[in-house]
Amino acid sequence: MNKKWWMESVGYQIYPKSFYDTNDDGIGDLPGILEKLDYLKMLGVDLIWICPFYDSPMDDNGYDVRDFFGVSKEFGTMEDIKNIIQKAHEYGMRIVLDYVLNHTSDEHPWFIESKSSKDNPYRDYYIWSEGKMVDGVLHEPTNWGSFFGGSAWNYDKTTDSYYLKIFSNKMPDLNWKNPKVREEMIEVAKKWLDLGVDGFRIDAVSHLDKAPFVDAEAKPGEKYPLDYFKFSNQPMVHPYLKELNQKVFSSYDAVTIGEVGGSASIEEGIRYSAFDSHELSMVFSFDHNWCNNIFEINHPKFLKTDVVKLKQAFNMWQTSLKDIGWVPLNWFNHDQPRLISHYGSKKYPLQSGKMLATVLHLMRGTPFIYQGEEIGMTNYPFEDVSDFNDISSISSYQHHLNLAPDDPVSALRIAGMRSRDNARTPMQWTSGFFAGFSTVKPWLKVNPNYRKINVERLLKDQDSLFYHYQKLIALRKSSQYKDVILWGDFILKDREDQDHFTYLRNYQDNTLLVINSFSQSKTYYDLSKYQILDTLIHNQKKIKIKDQKILLKPYESIVFAVKEKS
Ligand code: NOJ
Repeated sequence: MNKKWWMESVGYQIYPKSFYDTNDDGIGDLPGILEKLDYLKMLGVDLIWICPFYDSPMDDNGYDVRDFFGVSKEFGTMEDIKNIIQKAHEYGMRIVLDYVLNHTSDEHPWFIESKSSKDNPYRDYYIWSEGKMVDGVLHEPTNWGSFFGGSAWNYDKTTDSYYLKIFSNKMPDLNWKNPKVREEMIEVAKKWLDLGVDGFRIDAVSHLDKAPFVDAEAKPGEKYPLDYFKFSNQPMVHPYLKELNQKVFSSYDAVTIGEVGGSASIEEGIRYSAFDSHELSMVFSFDHNWCNNIFEINHPKFLKTDVVKLKQAFNMWQTSLKDIGWVPLNWFNHDQPRLISHYGSKKYPLQSGKMLATVLHLMRGTPFIYQGEEIGMTNYPFEDVSDFNDISSISSYQHHLNLAPDDPVSALRIAGMRSRDNARTPMQWTSGFFAGFSTVKPWLKVNPNYRKINVERLLKDQDSLFYHYQKLIALRKSSQYKDVILWGDFILKDREDQDHFTYLRNYQDNTLLVINSFSQSKTYYDLSKYQILDTLIHNQKKIKIKDQKILLKPYESIVFAVKEKS
């Protein structure tokens, strides 16, 4: 295997709007990131992924880009991002930006031109189609639903046509079939790489090619079914990515992590990211993101993790890409609920938080921590629909309210538990006003638990979650076990065990046994096949082994160096 620098990195994702505000406007900014690089250095991460800060009307918090070469006023200036790149590089860190190539804002000059007339030179930069006349009524060209609810098409009266937009109305999809669009987007990537960034997280990358405009299958009464396969992993996406790789990424030694989400099977994942595919370095899949009962029809009050399913999901990517590719490892991002609320325990937040961190960081791949994960931030206790900022949370609330108009409480609970705003509440730095995020009221409410959960407090406590993450990173980066953690084979044990997530890592003469309990009760794990040589990391004070069995407390997690008995 050809070793690459990014295989040995540990990532940290920053959502700028919620990270740290330095100019007292309630919105996080680029100077805020610069100021906190020391904190990130102390944690030990060295690959910083910064979500969009480009000029944008902020319909989708910056994923609706108005100018790919400009910095949004509320985030700062070009100088600020240059300073971040420079200081990060001095610190031995690398910077990855979000590359949003599937769509632009409807306020982007290309779109303003494109919609102005049918013969405008920019017309084919976007995907336009005439409506369909059915019984004298004009309809969208297809019944396709969009990710954010409603139709995937929006009507524009200037030219009496519809444009495709698989996210919001203000985010028209670019037409990648047009070579001029591809050239423009290549220039965007080059410009940022020339400025010194080290790669990209590539937004919505699986959606660049669309299926022929044929209706999706709809359930009875369903007007706009969300059949995202109509715009995911369509054949031309691969040649487009090979072209990008050949014309840009490969000449810069850049890392590229494509967001393929839930739409890509492992076979697709291999097509995108195997070393010999010459497309992307790795892909973020979402297979392990929803392994609980959160989408059950009767909308659960309490979440229960399906440990067997979770293990299957990780195992699939770990083993299928063994020797032929590499994976990013992340529990969640800015679009998903917070880790401890989703897979952890309210009763045992510290133990479950440490256990979940260990599960992920001992696997093969490049780990990514999402801001606040290292201090155990949790979901927000939404009390009213006005607490939501995210367009998709508001539309999900409306959707559930439409299904049961007499039950706004359930609509709020369901939308709340899945809401993207959970991950976007301001970072909790201190127990002071607004959690030390800003001196004024932030753009999104601070989680009321900030007095207990904040960086300042955790840094004073040697037993805190922060130091557990720091130790995991140090084990991977500089310990005697570095090689087995980085390069070792992953072997899942006890697949059907609903209580434990246990695996081995093997490299040359080293074997690690990683045992994690997801149980709320005491359990045992049989160690009779192993001779224990060392303990790398543990989330309890004492190790209790009796009759060759380890007694595990709720959410206990321990990593041993072992020798397998023959
Ligand atoms: C995926 C991003 O992670 C999400 O936040 C955004 O809304 C969509 N892509 C559209 O850009």
